[in-house]
Amino acid sequence: MSEKQVIQPGGRLCGEIQVPGDKSISHRAIMLGALGEGETVVRGLLRGEDNLATLQAFRSMGVTFDEETGGTLRVAGRGLHGLHEPQDVIDCGNSGTTMRLMTGLLAGQKFFSVLTGDRFLRKRPMKRVVEPLSGMGALILGRAGGEYAPLAIQGKALAGITHRSAVASAQVKSSLLLAGLYADGPSTVYEPHRSRDHSERMLRWFGADIRPFEDGVTLYPGSPLRGGEVVVPGDISSAAFFMVAALIVPGSELLIRQVGVNPTRSGIIDILRRMGGHIELLNERDCSGEPVADILVKSSDLKGVDIGGSVVPRAIDEFPVVSVAAAFAEGSTVIRDARELRVKETDRIASMCSQMGALGGRMEPCEDGMVITGGEPLRGGTVSTLGDHRIGMSLAVAALRASGPVTINDTDCTATSFPGFWDLFECARKD
Ligand code: S3P
Repeated sequence: MSEKQVIQPGGRLCGEIQVPGDKSISHRAIMLGALGEGETVVRGLLRGEDNLATLQAFRSMGVTFDEETGGTLRVAGRGLHGLHEPQDVIDCGNSGTTMRLMTGLLAGQKFFSVLTGDRFLRKRPMKRVVEPLSGMGALILGRAGGEYAPLAIQGKALAGITHRSAVASAQVKSSLLLAGLYADGPSTVYEPHRSRDHSERMLRWFGADIRPFEDGVTLYPGSPLRGGEVVVPGDISSAAFFMVAALIVPGSELLIRQVGVNPTRSGIIDILRRMGGHIELLNERDCSGEPVADILVKSSDLKGVDIGGSVVPRAIDEFPVVSVAAAFAEGSTVIRDARELRVKETDRIASMCSQMGALGGRMEPCEDGMVITGGEPLRGGTVSTLGDHRIGMSLAVAALRASGPVTINDTDCTATSFPGFWDLFECARKD
C-alpha cells in the first residue's frame, strides 16, 4: 500500500545528525567487492532499495554476502572471472546505476543475462551505454533498438574503446570502465564536464591501473582487483535535504556528521554558499580514498543565483532541493544546462514545477532547467512524490515553510535512497 506523510510547518533543525551511507559508493563497493580477490568488508553500506537490487544481482551470480548488524557487509569476492550465469532475469528495481553499470560489467562475461527494472527504469535511456559497449564488441539487445530495458546481454570478448560521451554521466563512464576491465586493451572515456569519480577512486583502491586526466580517464586492464576494507561516508545527496532545511528555517543550527565531500559531488555546497548560505566544513579527512567532513549549517537569508556549466553534474541529484532553496530566496534563480534532469527517476523539471506550483510556488520549466521566483508564500495542500524519492524529500523540506500542513502522497519511494528519512526528519526538528 502506498504511504503518505503529513508535514506540519516550522520546527528549527538543531543538534547533530548522521545520514545513511552514500548510494553511489555503496553500489560500487558491492560490485568491486564481488569482483575482487579475497574478502571485502564494507562499513556503513547504504541499505536502500537501489543497493539491495545490486546485492541481489550478485547473489544471483553466485556471490555470497554476510550481513552484520551496524551496516557492515562482508563480500566473498570471486575475482574478475568468478561470476556464474544467473538462472533468472536480474531485476534492477528503480536503480539506473545498477542497470547501467551492470550492463558494462555483464558485457564481458562468458554467459548470457537479462536486466529489467520497474516501470520508471524501463523508460530511461540505455542507448548511451548500449551503443559504446556495442562498439567494444558487446552483444546487447533491448526494446526500441536497445534504448529501453529489458536488456539481453550475451557476454563476448571485448576490445578497448575511446569514447567521447555527449553527456557528463558517471553511469556511462563507469559502465565503460567496468567493461574495460575485460577488454583486450586500454579504454578511455572523455566527458564534457567531469562527473562523479567514485568508480575511478574505488577501482584504484582495489588496485586497478586507472589514470584520470583533465577531461577524461583511461583504464588499463590486466591487474587483478584485490578485496579490502571500504568505509562508506554519509551521502551528500541525502545530507542536502537537511542542509536546505536548516538554511530556510530561521533559528536552525545543524551539524551533519561524516558526509562525503568529494569535489565531484560537492556542487550543492558551492551553490548554497553562493546563495548566501552559512555552511562550514569541519574535521576534513579521508576515508578509503574519499574526502569526508562534518557539515555545519546555520539558517541564512538566501538570494537567487544563476546556475549552469560544470557545477551541474557536480550537483545533478540535488536540483529538486536546490529549487526549494531558491523558492525561499530573494530574487530569481535560473538553472540551465540541466537537461539531464528530464531523464532521471522522473522528469525532475516537470515534477518540481507541478508539485511546488500546487503549493503556490513559482517555478517555470524551460528545456534545460527552470526559473524560480523566490519569495512567493507557500500554502498547505496535497502533493505527490510522483514515485520519485528525491521529489518527495524535497517537498518535505519545502513544507517546513508552508503556511499550513502539507500532505505528501506516495512516500514509500524514499526508501530507494534514504531508508529512515521520515523518522530522522521529525527527530531533527525542535519546537
Ligand atoms: C550516479 C550517477 C548519476 C546520478 C545517479 C547516481 C552514479 O547519474 O544521477 O543518482 O552512481 O553513478 P548519471 O550518470 O545518469 O548522471
